[in-house]
Amino acid sequence: MDSIIVRGNGPLKGQIPIAGAKNACLTLMPATLLSEEPLTLTNAPRLSDIATMTELLSSLGAEVSSLQDGKVQAMSSHNINNHVAEYDIVRKMRASNLVLGPMLARLGHAVVSLPGGCAIGARPMDLHIHGLEALGAEIELKDGYLHAKVPGGFKGAEINLAFASVGATENILMASTLAKGTTIINNAAREPEIVDLATCLRAMGAQIEGDGTSRIEVQGVDRLHGATHPVVTDRIELGTYMLAPAICGGEVECLGGRIELVGAFCEKLDEAGIHVEETAKGLKVSRKNGRVRAVDVTTEPFPGFPTDLQAQMMALMCTAEGTSVLEEKIFENRFMHAPELIRMGAEIEVHGGTATVTGVERLKGAPVMATDLRASVSLILAAMAAEGETIVNRVYHLDRGYERVEEKLGNLGAHIERVKA
Ligand code: UD1
Repeated sequence: MDSIIVRGNGPLKGQIPIAGAKNACLTLMPATLLSEEPLTLTNAPRLSDIATMTELLSSLGAEVSSLQDGKVQAMSSHNINNHVAEYDIVRKMRASNLVLGPMLARLGHAVVSLPGGCAIGARPMDLHIHGLEALGAEIELKDGYLHAKVPGGFKGAEINLAFASVGATENILMASTLAKGTTIINNAAREPEIVDLATCLRAMGAQIEGDGTSRIEVQGVDRLHGATHPVVTDRIELGTYMLAPAICGGEVECLGGRIELVGAFCEKLDEAGIHVEETAKGLKVSRKNGRVRAVDVTTEPFPGFPTDLQAQMMALMCTAEGTSVLEEKIFENRFMHAPELIRMGAEIEVHGGTATVTGVERLKGAPVMATDLRASVSLILAAMAAEGETIVNRVYHLDRGYERVEEKLGNLGAHIERVKA
């Protein structure tokens, strides 16, 4: 397994391009199953999670071509000849469950493996299941697989989500585009990735209103057609790289960044004393001399502070002046980076869903273990400002969500290299 070696050094300077959003791409790709005509995604990120979704869609009979070095995904679901999403693929990535709604809408039946436990919490699928059942699906759990069918096809319904789940909103939204009649999703997730999915589905002929608010209304249509859609900017990659100059000092322009994607996060950076400026090309982030101020953070569904930036924010707080309290409200077990940061000299106490971080002057390099995707990158950020050398092991998590991380950060002046296993 590859490792990444980071030697802490001084301020960063330069520009960093932000890729298309992994999480948007992972729901846009299954949308291809809704139509017999081709769907092409531009501005796709080059990540192993995208390769896993390609593998899954191909196993169902879709044709997926990766063009322009992976930046374009051209898909055709003309010939869907398998209705089983196998455990061997689904277990690699929870987002595989996003094929359930589209497969049911297209084929009337589907068998999809449950994704199984995930390192950051239980992450059940009950909200996906209840929503699809409200639209007329009959779903049974057998041998670890969801066996689903929709006798007579989906019929519009009013669905009240108990929690604004991103994945459940996406599955129900895709399913309802081909339902008979009107579907209303109340307490829908409002993440930019949902708006991106709705925009793509509208380009395919779907009739959707209210995406980006908590009430989405869909008028079902008989069929969807082909489309070409540019994937929205990855707000989590954006926030992650905005933290690089915040932690190390210097000035970095994140190309393609937009404030509305990271509003709540930028408010926290401002409180901490980090300067963010909108430019013609993106967002410029700078930290001059001195330590940042400690700030408290609570993760929430969008437009709140994203859980996917909590680990990286903790890395910043490790060297802030004062004590900060980070509350994790989305996933129950998302502080696995804390013990690794403690190995680097951080002062962190975790009690349930709350971590209290007392900033220290400087972290020290150490061998550490990447435990999940966002935890991995938080260790890299911490290491870039630490004294000495850090070896981050098990970086395969990182490659799921960050393309060419060592090259992108290296271009800013960071001392970071990958050691092939
Ligand atoms: C998506 C993102 C992930 C992000 C998360 C929250 C993708 C591919 N992944 O994950 O990076 O961290 O949103 O912003 O887009 N829940 C249930 N029952 C369900 C579904 C979810 O109880 O049926 C719970 C989960 O256990 C979790 C919370 O709801 O505690 C949030 O999950 P959800 O919004 O569904 O996240 P994902 O779509 O899995």
